[in-house]
Amino acid sequence: MLFAVALGFVGWTWWGSLVPDTYSMDDMGVADFGGGEAVAHEAAHGGSAVGVDTLTGPPDGEPDVSETLVARAGKVEIGGDGARAVDGYTLNDTSPGPVIRAKQGDLVEVRLVNESVPDGVTLHWHGVDVPNAEDGVAGVTQDAVQEGEEHVYRFVAEDAGTYWYHSHQVSHEQVKRGLLGTLVIEPARGPSTDDVVAAVHTYSGQRTVQGMVGEQHVEAAAGSTRRVRVVNTNDGAVRTWVSGAPYRVVAVDGREINGPTPVEGKTVSVPAGGRVDLEVEIPDDGVRVSFGGGASLVLGPADADAPTDDEPKQRFDPLTYGSPADIGFDPDAADRSFEYRIGRRIGFLDGRPGFWWTINGSIFPDVPMYMVQEGDVVRMTISNDSGKVHPMHLHGHHAVVLSRDGVSASGSPWWVDSLDVRDGETFEVALVADNPGIWMDHCHNLIHASEGLVAHLSYVGVSTPFRVGGADHNHPE
Ligand code: C2O
Ligand code: CU
Repeated sequence: MLFAVALGFVGWTWWGSLVPDTYSMDDMGVADFGGGEAVAHEAAHGGSAVGVDTLTGPPDGEPDVSETLVARAGKVEIGGDGARAVDGYTLNDTSPGPVIRAKQGDLVEVRLVNESVPDGVTLHWHGVDVPNAEDGVAGVTQDAVQEGEEHVYRFVAEDAGTYWYHSHQVSHEQVKRGLLGTLVIEPARGPSTDDVVAAVHTYSGQRTVQGMVGEQHVEAAAGSTRRVRVVNTNDGAVRTWVSGAPYRVVAVDGREINGPTPVEGKTVSVPAGGRVDLEVEIPDDGVRVSFGGGASLVLGPADADAPTDDEPKQRFDPLTYGSPADIGFDPDAADRSFEYRIGRRIGFLDGRPGFWWTINGSIFPDVPMYMVQEGDVVRMTISNDSGKVHPMHLHGHHAVVLSRDGVSASGSPWWVDSLDVRDGETFEVALVADNPGIWMDHCHNLIHASEGLVAHLSYVGVSTPFRVGGADHNHPE
C-alpha cells in the first residue's frame, strides 16, 4: 500500500514535470509580484496587451553602421601555432565573427542570414539594453531564423562599452561551437584610447583570444595607453592578469568604473558572458595580458619581450574598487523585491529524473515569472546554495550591486549584466525597470540554462506572439 502511494506520488511528480512541446512565455512559471502591486496583464493596457514584436528599434532611417552576418555550419579555422580546425559554426566564415564597431548614438542595423545552420539561429546582443524585439531570443522575442531565411536587427547604440553577440537558439551548443562575435560601442566624443578587443573562447579544448591560440603580438608604442576589452564567451569564468605593468579596471560589463586605481599582482575573474576593460600604459618591454590555457596578448614595440608571470593568487574585487558615485535612483525606495534562490535537488525535469537546478525551490518550468511595471525600482536577492557557481545574466537591463554576503559595496557603482554567484554567496542588486518586454534572467553557463536555470523578468501588459518549441522549432537554450 505504502509502496503504491509512493509510486503514485512519483508518477504524479513525473507527470507534473512534463514541459509541453510548445508553450508561450505568457503562460510560463509562477507570477511573482515581489510584494508590489499585482496587476493583471489585461488590466494594465485597457484589455489589450502590447506584443513584444512591436517593441522594436527605430524602423526607419539610414543606419550609421550596417553589417550583414552570414551564419554557416562547417569548419572553424583556429589561428596560431599548432591549432586544429574544429567543426562548428561561423559568421562570415570566421569565428569569432567580425568585430562590429559603432559610436554612441549610432543606429546599428545587422542583417542575419542563415545559410546552413540546420537548427536555425538568432543573434542576441549580450549586455546591450536593446528594445525587446531586437533581443534575439528564439521563441520569446522572435522565431529562429531557419536555413535560407534572414532577420534584420535595428537598434540605437545608446551606451558606450564592450559587448558581444551570440545565437540564442540552441545556445548551449551554438555558442560553444562558434556562433558569436564582439560589439564595441565607442564614446560619442572625448579622447578615445586605442583599444584591443580580446574575446576569449575555447574551441574543443583550445583556449583562444580573437580566434588564435598561444601568444599574439599587438604593436603598441612605449608610453602609449591601450584599453584591452576582455570578453568572456565561454561557459565558465576566465581569469585574466597583466604582467609587466600595473593596470586599471576601467569598465565592467560595458559600464565605466568611477575612479579606477592602479592594480598590481591580482587576477581579474571574468564571469561567463561578462566583460572587463583593462587599461595599461605600455612600458619599453611591453606587457603581457594572459587569459589562461596559454592564450595571451603581448602589447608593445615590435621587439618587446614581455614577462611571463604565473597567475597571481590574489583576486581583484569590484565590491571595493574605485570611488562611490550617484547611481541615479534610490534602491531603498524599491517598488518590488524579488528573491532568486538557486539550489539543486533530486526530481524530474521534463520527465527526466536527475539532480536538477531549482529556483526558489522549484524545478523548471515551475519557476518564478518576475513581474514588474515600467518605472519600478526593483531589488533582487540572488543566492546560491547549489554547490556550483552560476554566472547570472539578465537581459535588457543593468543592475547595480548593493551587497555581497551582507557587506555593502563601497567602491565605484558596480553595474553588471553578468554576475558570478558562487556557491554559498548572496548578492543584493537593484535596477530600474525602464525597458518594457519579456527578458530572460538565466545562468550563462549555458548548459545549466538548458537544464532549467532560466527565469524571466516580465513587464505587466506585455505578451509574446512567439512560442517555444512547436512548428517554429524555437529552443532558446
Ligand atoms: Cu548571452 Cu541569454 O545570453
Ligand atoms: Cu549555472
